[in-house]
Amino acid sequence: MSNRLAVFAVVVAALSLHTVYSPVLTSLPSLLLGLLLGLVVAETSLASPIQELCGLTSRHPDKVGLDVIHASEKGEGKTAKKQLDQRVMYGLQHAFLNLEVTGWWFNMGLWDKDKVPAMRFQDACKALVDKVTSHLDITSSSHILDVGFGCGDQDVYMAQVHKPARITGITIEPIQHHAAQDLVKRTPTPGTDINLYVADASKLPQFLESTPNLFASTTPSSDRFFSHVISIDSAYHYNTRAAFLKNAAQVLAPNTGRLALADMILAKPAPTSGFGLSIFKTVFGAMEVPPVNMKMMDEYRQDLVDAGFVDIEIECIEERVFSGLATHIENQTSRFGGMVGPGVKWTYSALAKGLWWLDRSKWLHFVVVKARYGPPPSS
Ligand SMILES: C[S@@+](CC[C@H](N)C(=O)[O-])C[C@H]1O[C@@H](n2cnc3c(N)ncnc32)[C@H](O)[C@@H]1O
Repeated sequence: MSNRLAVFAVVVAALSLHTVYSPVLTSLPSLLLGLLLGLVVAETSLASPIQELCGLTSRHPDKVGLDVIHASEKGEGKTAKKQLDQRVMYGLQHAFLNLEVTGWWFNMGLWDKDKVPAMRFQDACKALVDKVTSHLDITSSSHILDVGFGCGDQDVYMAQVHKPARITGITIEPIQHHAAQDLVKRTPTPGTDINLYVADASKLPQFLESTPNLFASTTPSSDRFFSHVISIDSAYHYNTRAAFLKNAAQVLAPNTGRLALADMILAKPAPTSGFGLSIFKTVFGAMEVPPVNMKMMDEYRQDLVDAGFVDIEIECIEERVFSGLATHIENQTSRFGGMVGPGVKWTYSALAKGLWWLDRSKWLHFVVVKARYGPPPSS
């Protein structure tokens, strides 16, 4: 039994016993309260002292998971692990002193099946950016609007690879904007001017109105359009995505403006009523994905057409996304899980399980979309 489960069981048992002897609480509500409290306690900082009290853990200094990996890599199993645990002076705690964050990459990645699990997260993330931005005719005069830029790594990377004149980015999260500004400040991107803002993709027209300096002062007012709108692993969050597509079309240069997305849609129809529908709404609501965005391929394509896009290409790449990321999360958890709080570990473990389920159930498509705004150029 895992430590967390054990803490959960202890708290639930204690509260249930209390229920039996308590004249005040009736059994069902207090059992539910016990369950809730058990979950909260097991997932918060209260867990550690309780685990210690119950003798469920020791404050072993090298619980960074590396011991387990070393043992299993050598194929020595439990004996090796026991030996590793025996003599600890400094242990491996100094891993903390060696830690270096080399980026804040944040998309699901495009994983090379032959290279997982050795593939680095940032390489998988870059591969997804490459997939989205290839064949888009990005030139030294392009001005890209990057919507949902995460922490800016993709903007620096796009600048290095494609060297557009300008990248304007928006994110809804101020803390990510802060990290991105820092990255942009310390990373030279010769030839590309990167400007990042906090703004909501669902309110694109308001953002444009309130930010008059988006276009070079020399640009004629008739030409105040972006050459590209890009949104990587983010558009399913927008409220609504259909409205975002319409707004994106309006800011793209007619006939030549290009849209490129990495996005998620349904591969199987959503439940239409009852308990299934409630679960569907709850799950996507919890992930801050408006359920109305979860559309099947035909409806999704129609949204693009309705927004005015042509030359629409949609490629499904989920087979190279979900399982690769799930494997990576499991590796990171076994190597470094001991260094993060239980809440973080729990969140990522749940995510990995969800991704494996998605990989098996084929319930969602992860798509790369490319399209052009406006009618075909007259020949
Ligand atoms: C999974 S992350 C992907 C980030 C980034 N594109 C990358 O690939 O590293 C989704 C991003 O979308 C951003 N986001 C979600 N809803 C948004 C909205 N309405 N407007 C702008 N950004 C949004 C989040 O803040 C988050 O950074």
